[in-house]
Amino acid sequence: MPPYDAVAEYKAKTQKSAKWFEFAKEYLPGGVTGNVKFYAPYPIYANKAKGSHIWDLDGNEYIDYMLCFGPMILGHGHPKVHEAIIKQLETDGTAIFGAPHEMEAKMAQRLEKIFPCAEYVRFTNSGLEATLHSLRIARGYKKKNRIAKFEGHYHGCYDEALVSLTPSEEVAGPEAAPQAVACSMGTSEYTLQSTQVLPFNDIHDTIRLLKAHKNDLAAVIMEPVQRGFIEGEPEFLKAVRETTTELDIVLIFDEVMSGFRMDKLGGAQTMVGITPDLMCLGKIIGGGFPCGAFLGREDIMDVVNPVTRGKENRVFHGGTFNGHPTILAAGMATIDVLEQPETYPYLMRITDRFQDGLNDLFQRLGFNAKGMGPGSTFNVLFGKDGQNLDDVRDYRHTLKADETARKKFDFGLLARGLHFHPDKPFYTCTEHTDEDIDNTLVVAEEVLKKMKSAM
Ligand SMILES: Cc1ncc(COP(=O)(O)O)c(C=O)c1O
Repeated sequence: MPPYDAVAEYKAKTQKSAKWFEFAKEYLPGGVTGNVKFYAPYPIYANKAKGSHIWDLDGNEYIDYMLCFGPMILGHGHPKVHEAIIKQLETDGTAIFGAPHEMEAKMAQRLEKIFPCAEYVRFTNSGLEATLHSLRIARGYKKKNRIAKFEGHYHGCYDEALVSLTPSEEVAGPEAAPQAVACSMGTSEYTLQSTQVLPFNDIHDTIRLLKAHKNDLAAVIMEPVQRGFIEGEPEFLKAVRETTTELDIVLIFDEVMSGFRMDKLGGAQTMVGITPDLMCLGKIIGGGFPCGAFLGREDIMDVVNPVTRGKENRVFHGGTFNGHPTILAAGMATIDVLEQPETYPYLMRITDRFQDGLNDLFQRLGFNAKGMGPGSTFNVLFGKDGQNLDDVRDYRHTLKADETARKKFDFGLLARGLHFHPDKPFYTCTEHTDEDIDNTLVVAEEVLKKMKSAM
């Protein structure tokens, strides 16, 4: 039996995307506007979306589980979000005033009700900016320069956030004391020196490293759910909280991904009952438009306050488009729907059907593979050489997974009408139906059987 060539199936169905890729490459490096949007041989180029479905240039229809890497939790073109945008534009008579306006404080008040740590809020235009500003205000507040982050955690594409994002095992250093590794050219030596890398879900070594560097650390930033699918273990998160409090280091939860994607409102901090000093949001709060926010303790956030502080003891935070009224209206409408009592239970039921359905298939068809992750995001790993996937609890474990099997699975699904980014998590939305899930599982079974028969 020849090996199963899922990429050939994908290519056969996406000729127009292939052609557009050739055109786009002439003008955009790699034919894309962000590295993560590319995957070899070329990505699907989209041209229409509605509800839980998306179409490509070839006219192929897909059930969309990428949802723009998470933000479209109500699906594409939700009527309530649409209506809110139009109404806001018509009422305001413009896209944006520049002057402060009512939506900003209204949305801030709303977020403060949802997230336990939020006493003050500032808006940004992306998740990246939210984490960048939260780190800077922590530095300003503590008057210290170094920060700590966890290996494999993503906080946006700027210097210290990219440190040790995806290091290979050869350069990553000992598991208990990871090295600061540049994962982008252009990272300065200073950035590497000012970033302390920590091992996720490892209580002993994280505490040891925090204690060893306590005098120069302003903040610890972390994804409470790594890349949306590896949960911070409750006792680990508790230990990090207690240690940062004891050592007087600002604890920042980056909830850009997890903020609205747990099994209820309130983010991972609500789920585990641990309150960070600061948090970051993005993705869903803009209802599909660029938006982010950093939120947290009043005394820390106050370092940006132009009323209480002069230029000499203030942290600068700005942005022409911050708190964009049309975008906040889209975010408000999204939260309106999320707050309806039936929304999260429905989203969780659909996600569980999908994730459990895949896990049943893996078991029934004899694959060492697993769908894992809390809330409405999960990832799929294929284990290599008898790897026990129940043990996956940090970045180093994910390095051991079988990328070749996952690639076959991904392209087999893409070629059969499921859209998501290869090798990345799956996201669900309120518009996914039971029929979508039934069709998805039929397709997954077909692909897995093809993979099996070619083994
Ligand atoms: C946890 C986390 N933080 C920060 C970011 C950066 O957000 P943005 O892409 O809006 O800049 C992302 C994006 O995927 C993320 O998942």
